[in-house]
Amino acid sequence: MVVKATPLTFVVHALAIACAVLVLVWNIYFRGGLAWEATDKNLIFNLHPVMMLIGFIILGGEAIVSYKALPFKHEVKKVIHLTLHAMALALGIFGICAAFKNHNESGILNLYSLHSWLGIGVISLYGVQWIYGFITFFYPGGSSSLRRESLPWHVLFGIFVYVLAVGNATLGFLEKLTFLETLAGLEKFGTEAYLVNFTAIATVLFGAFVLLTVYAQKEQPQEAEDHYTAI
Ligand code: HEM
Repeated sequence: MVVKATPLTFVVHALAIACAVLVLVWNIYFRGGLAWEATDKNLIFNLHPVMMLIGFIILGGEAIVSYKALPFKHEVKKVIHLTLHAMALALGIFGICAAFKNHNESGILNLYSLHSWLGIGVISLYGVQWIYGFITFFYPGGSSSLRRESLPWHVLFGIFVYVLAVGNATLGFLEKLTFLETLAGLEKFGTEAYLVNFTAIATVLFGAFVLLTVYAQKEQPQEAEDHYTAI
């Protein structure tokens, strides 16, 4: 069965907007806003979900679908792909720094949870994947046989890290909501609890449509040997 990529990329963009709106409404309207310096240390924490979702997951997903979503030449799309991934990585690192800063300034221990361990794993693997991709496919660039042999692994490893990132984001939502419900008395069936759970569901749907797009068929004919013909 042939599934065309273009309509799926529109769904990806629509879900990206939905996720961004949901996480901003949650952290700005319900959680009091965002700040790097503040006496209320919770505002520093709020940067974490916002950066991890909009910066890391959404930009990373858009980077993955860029080859299928954009009408440009392959070389142009390659630069857009690596730039969006670089931005995702940088904003992801910034988001993690915000979580550490909040913990350090609030006297909370660092790296005690499964979410935080997987998080360090995800961001490290993302960095390794980006550096290997840059050196092999962009600058200085490997031989054509190395590029051809690396491509299926680049795709497989990229998908693995991305799925892990989406899974870890849902762990983060669960953890924060559980803290709010057990420590701050947030209502289990209240508006905010629904909002957080629906944000996590929108995140999972976004990740699912990114994956579907990877496996869907591109409209244009193949141009070069290091295309996503690997799958
Ligand atoms: C893929 C995306 C994400 C990654 C890579 C990630 C990574 C991390 C890391 C490394 C920490 C440890 C900080 C420290 O120990 O000082 C952390 C903490 C935390 N994150 Fe995330 N995070 C992600 C998304 C989210 C999201 C969307 C939420 C939703 C609210 C969230 C909630 C939390 C919470 C509550 C903590 C503090 C408790 C803990 O350390 O487990 N995270 N995150």
